[in-house]
Amino acid sequence: MRLIVTGRNGQVARSLVEHARLVDRLVVVPVGRPELDLAAPGDVTALFRRHAPDVVVSAAAHTAVDQAESEPDIAFATNRDGAGAVAAAAAALGVPVVHLSTDYVFDGSKATPYTEDDPTGPVSVYGRSKLAGEQAVALAQPDHAILRTAWVYAAEGKNFVRTMLRLAQGRDEIGVVADQHGAPTYAPDIAEAVIGVARNLIARPSDPTLRGIFHLSGAGETTWAGFAAEIFSRSAALGGPHARVRAIATADYPTPAARPANSRLDCGRLAKAHGIIMPDWREALGRCMDHLARGSVLTGGGQAA
Ligand SMILES: NC(=O)c1ccc[n+]([C@@H]2O[C@H](COP(=O)([O-])OP(=O)(O)OC[C@H]3O[C@@H](n4cnc5c(N)ncnc54)[C@H](OP(=O)(O)O)[C@@H]3O)[C@@H](O)[C@H]2O)c1
Repeated sequence: MRLIVTGRNGQVARSLVEHARLVDRLVVVPVGRPELDLAAPGDVTALFRRHAPDVVVSAAAHTAVDQAESEPDIAFATNRDGAGAVAAAAAALGVPVVHLSTDYVFDGSKATPYTEDDPTGPVSVYGRSKLAGEQAVALAQPDHAILRTAWVYAAEGKNFVRTMLRLAQGRDEIGVVADQHGAPTYAPDIAEAVIGVARNLIARPSDPTLRGIFHLSGAGETTWAGFAAEIFSRSAALGGPHARVRAIATADYPTPAARPANSRLDCGRLAKAHGIIMPDWREALGRCMDHLARGSVLTGGGQAA
């Protein structure tokens, strides 16, 4: 199977490329800037045709949630129009698209985990642009699976785990928001799930149950403060940086973009249709921390966050 993935240095794109190194007859071609700029995409079909993909994975996005508040035009050009252009190119080549979306399409007011049938109501520019992206993808290529994920992290890239470890190098105590609930999702687990979905779409080209919107996040749930505490406890056990976590309220940590208080996603549809069950978030974090320890990142011998 040959996959194109958009974005070159993104957490999910890199994880897909890494994963393909371990799997026979799986080729993942990352396509990103400068040849593909989602904000000014040009002839995406011609670009993709050169790589003869079986499936297109649309992972690149304007993911700077706070920055998007002050540059909505770029966020929409990238996350709506760019994603639509990628899906249209997949349609022109007659291949399915697997598109990554976000829990931030919801307003977070629901008391229980969100299902795919719950009404959306994004509270940020990023969330609105990603929701518009879902709609553009669905319109451009009916043969799609849209995977909404949440709280993505990896051993590389810009993410919460690396930020916490960096902050702990200079502080004994860190205030972390304790009233936003969700499940951390390890990018290599997303990569594996994306490949499973892609294989299913190819194997059963006219099965409607495999197509549409699916939720995909780590199993279990926590808060950002709970996530931070688990990072530090595992880091301490591995001889890495750690700090005390002081639970704070969202109101005590104002940011340009509002964030949903409830980011929990019910992943039952993905399990039923695609047979994919994500690992528990704590177990996944353990693998990430072991990976960082092997690279000497925790003990300062490797590249810090
Ligand atoms: N990160 C999260 O917590 C999170 C949560 C929920 C959903 N998601 C969704 O999951 C997907 C993957 O996220 P991620 O964490 O892997 O993203 P990421 O690490 O933030 O990387 C984003 C990627 O998008 C690329 N990109 C940004 N603007 C672009 C443009 N104009 N043209 C081409 N490429 C562009 C970046 O390219 P460069 O390498 O050139 O910078 C980078 O490769 C995204 O669709 C995101 O919306 C992420």
